[in-house]
Amino acid sequence: MRVTITDVREMKRKKEKIPMLTAYDYVTAKMVDEAGAPLILVGDSLGMVILGYESTIPVTMDEMIHHTKAVVRGANKALVIGDMPFMTYHINMSDALHNAARFIQEGGAQAVKLEGGEVVAETVRRLVDCGIPVMGHIGLTPQSIHQLGGFKVRGKGLDEARKLLNDACILEEAGAFAIVLECTPAALSRLITQKLTVPTIGIGAGPDCDGQVQVISDLLGLYTEFVPKHAKQYARLAGEIKTAVSSYIAEVKSDGFPTAEQSYTMDESLIRQLEAED
Ligand code: KIV
Repeated sequence: MRVTITDVREMKRKKEKIPMLTAYDYVTAKMVDEAGAPLILVGDSLGMVILGYESTIPVTMDEMIHHTKAVVRGANKALVIGDMPFMTYHINMSDALHNAARFIQEGGAQAVKLEGGEVVAETVRRLVDCGIPVMGHIGLTPQSIHQLGGFKVRGKGLDEARKLLNDACILEEAGAFAIVLECTPAALSRLITQKLTVPTIGIGAGPDCDGQVQVISDLLGLYTEFVPKHAKQYARLAGEIKTAVSSYIAEVKSDGFPTAEQSYTMDESLIRQLEAED
């Protein structure tokens, strides 16, 4: 049985921590799902860690749907959340509904995530009313990077901390089933987590959130161009992959690969017959 938003709410009630990871393709989603992550986010971080863009801003709906479909094919149990890209839910309500519906109908996701607090509350309410579960996302919101002036911790000062707390309450009231807190001080995240009945999922938001989310490429040490302070590398696959590829290149060049073990056989007399026919 696939995890539902009711299960996620229940996890908070039972004080059971909620691990969430991003995935962008079938193979990774399958591994993350089989390892037991209850939530998989098809994050627009794919723009940076998969597609090589400088930020998440260029990511399109079509790219997100393409990757969401692959993730859904790999994940049998986890709740899959599609991340709505930049400006796909701001222009008007009709666009927001249409794009969110694409994640559910075409992509096969069970929920969507969108960035912002009070400013997106009406949209959250409408999507939820239409039957689309929504995860909120406040704090450092990478789609607003030009407005925010860089990847910085949010809510260190009183005014911004008050605003974030207010945004979280408004999102809960609008019907969000969970809220990502990105790069917020641990003490503020703790307060927000205590105030809300829906779970908070932290990334760079300290240990007291109800759950944690990490970008899979950071966790596996695959994306090494920029490793955020809040990321922990549980493996260093970039190095391992480069070593494997270098070994392959060296063996092809030195006739060490393939050997008989990787080759197919046939009746050698047939070859002699072919040679004789020349
Ligand atoms: O796009 C993403 O991966 C995200 C997470 C960092 C929460 O939004």
